[in-house]
Amino acid sequence: MTQPQLSVAIIGAGAIARVHAEALASLGDQARLVAAADTDADTLREFCSACGIPRHHGSLAGLLDAGPPDLAIVCTPPGAHAAQSLACLRAGSSVLVEKPPALSVADLEQMAAAQGARGPWLATVFQHRFGSGALRLRSLIGSGVLGRSLLAICHTAWFRDQAYFDAPWRGRWDTEGGGPTMGHGIHQMDLLGYLLGDWTEVSALARRQARRTETEDLSLAHVTFASGAVASVVNSLLSPREESYLRFDFERGTVELRHLYGYGDGDWRVTPAPGYAEEVAAAWAAGDRGVPSGHRAQLGAVLRSLRARTPPPVTPAEALRTMRLVAGVYASAFAGRPVRPADLGPDSPFYDRMNGSGAPW
Ligand SMILES: NC(=O)c1ccc[n+]([C@@H]2O[C@H](COP(=O)([O-])OP(=O)(O)OC[C@H]3O[C@@H](n4cnc5c(N)ncnc54)[C@H](O)[C@@H]3O)[C@@H](O)[C@H]2O)c1
Repeated sequence: MTQPQLSVAIIGAGAIARVHAEALASLGDQARLVAAADTDADTLREFCSACGIPRHHGSLAGLLDAGPPDLAIVCTPPGAHAAQSLACLRAGSSVLVEKPPALSVADLEQMAAAQGARGPWLATVFQHRFGSGALRLRSLIGSGVLGRSLLAICHTAWFRDQAYFDAPWRGRWDTEGGGPTMGHGIHQMDLLGYLLGDWTEVSALARRQARRTETEDLSLAHVTFASGAVASVVNSLLSPREESYLRFDFERGTVELRHLYGYGDGDWRVTPAPGYAEEVAAAWAAGDRGVPSGHRAQLGAVLRSLRARTPPPVTPAEALRTMRLVAGVYASAFAGRPVRPADLGPDSPFYDRMNGSGAPW
């Protein structure tokens, strides 16, 4: 039986919306982009005309009234994500929301609760889980060929000048939800959790070192995982030589990934421990390859799940683990003590907002 074509709408027609529209077009006729909404009429007109989208709406409410799509992709600034995702889910549309999925753990829990058992579902964009390198490493970790995970390094060393913060929603707790921890390093921290599993404790510091913003412009953290592995995490927007760097030291080998905003197979490097050269090299060579990380890879996986009527990735449970780690970094940095996931429940000021009861600067 042929599966029906999915109808898709994009909410927020700015920079990242183009990436979604191009990725969807490259995935063939599994899905059709039927509508877009943006509050800026010029942006909306240009976007719809460039991407051949028939229905344009000046508001999400208008778009949903005209007929909810099978999938709504929420590409507005972070402060709009929770209310818009809830509106789409309540209208019966599954949602793929850009990172960060919400401004707080509380909001994301509310969004998760609006899913139905058989849909509509909520998924978050964390596109670096979907390149073949990450899939290969995850499968090697699962098979045990690398032995125990001992140590990881997770660095987001990016550069944003002062002008970057001129966009009205950037660098503010109430619209962006945080600085590089929430908005940039979240990609790498999500990949770290995808590969190493649940975290159990974080100790952190955050600074406003050089930019005029409300939020931090760098944070440093030590994270412990349930497996016993430990990681050193850096999130910076002050690093002129930019790099996203992840390094995993296992008992039987080191696996490294160096890239900036997206990786391919050539960005990974594996160094076996003495005595394990053949076993580790053979396992790494045998795995998946050829798929770069990016929106196309994740959208392909989301469409496959929706067409099979199963929850699309990245599920709210997975996104919540990452959002709790972000909240944990702020909670630890601002209170000056280690934080566990259980410390971040409804009694914590960091449950409702990432800056808790206020940044120390
Ligand atoms: N996954 C990634 O690698 C990645 C990369 C860049 C941005 N993002 C995320 O994508 C989101 C959007 O970022 P961007 O760079 O595209 O921003 P942008 O400012 O270029 O685009 C946002 C658009 O949303 C519109 N908008 C604002 N409020 C609206 C509302 N209430 N209803 C409808 N439209 C509204 C604006 O007019 C604008 O056109 C952010 O959450 C950002 O963090 C993700």
